[in-house]
Amino acid sequence: MQITGAVALVTGANRGLGRRFAAALVERGAAKVYAAARNPETIDLPGVVPLRLDVTDPASIKDAAAVAGDVTLLVNNAGSSTGASLLGGSLEDIRLEMDTHYFGTLAVTREFAPILERNGGGAVLNVLSVLSWFTAPQVAAYSAAKSAAWSLTNALRLELAPQKTQVTALHVGYMDTDMAKHVDGPKIDPAVVAGLALDGVEEGRFEVLADDISRNVRAGLAGELPGLYPALVS
Ligand SMILES: NC(=O)c1ccc[n+]([C@@H]2O[C@H](COP(=O)([O-])OP(=O)(O)OC[C@H]3O[C@@H](n4cnc5c(N)ncnc54)[C@H](OP(=O)(O)O)[C@@H]3O)[C@@H](O)[C@H]2O)c1
Repeated sequence: MQITGAVALVTGANRGLGRRFAAALVERGAAKVYAAARNPETIDLPGVVPLRLDVTDPASIKDAAAVAGDVTLLVNNAGSSTGASLLGGSLEDIRLEMDTHYFGTLAVTREFAPILERNGGGAVLNVLSVLSWFTAPQVAAYSAAKSAAWSLTNALRLELAPQKTQVTALHVGYMDTDMAKHVDGPKIDPAVVAGLALDGVEEGRFEVLADDISRNVRAGLAGELPGLYPALVS
């Protein structure tokens, strides 16, 4: 699908990658960009339409859909990162990850699927991660939720095909945003990632692998597990 002339909605658009998505969409000539956020008063981008949307709150999703009935591109970007491990972390944090990344993405997409259909099909872009394919104790709850969101994305691609809604998955390693501010080491610029992902949407790609770590880990899934987890070999 073409970005020029599209009507886009980005969740979590007030900061981080979502803010870069909203800016890139405006720059590329989207007809309208709904910048959705839990607190829309924190949206500071010119040229967008601020919209209240908490992806874990069904009433807020319904209210947003009632306003944004012209959407043709849904960007499911909102995400949490609690740092919870699965055995040591609180169940509340583990549930929050699933509620945000899996049930949140599912609920927003279910609400907007009929809107996309009415508007000709359009596209959904789901922000996933290299951690959909790889885990570690300090990101285990997040990874499990991103794995679930990956499976969800694959299922949505099939379920939405008959209504001609294209579904693109974005996988990326660490980006330079608040979510990864505790991480030392290389982090990709979220503005670059937003650009690559929107290129992928325009090209009708099923997946966008934004960096080497995503490409390497995805390739590593075809090998034996110790290739990805050397600690398994003692
Ligand atoms: N940063 C990384 O290294 C990295 C790597 C791979 C994938 N990702 C993914 O990229 C996406 C964007 O993350 P980011 O790096 O930009 O993180 P970020 O800077 O922490 O921003 C997270 C965004 O999600 C919003 N959000 C959280 N829970 C929400 C909810 N229930 N409803 C609506 N919005 C909610 C936040 O809103 P508030 O301001 O209200 O909190 C914020 O706008 C996420 O899906 C994340 O998992 C990030």
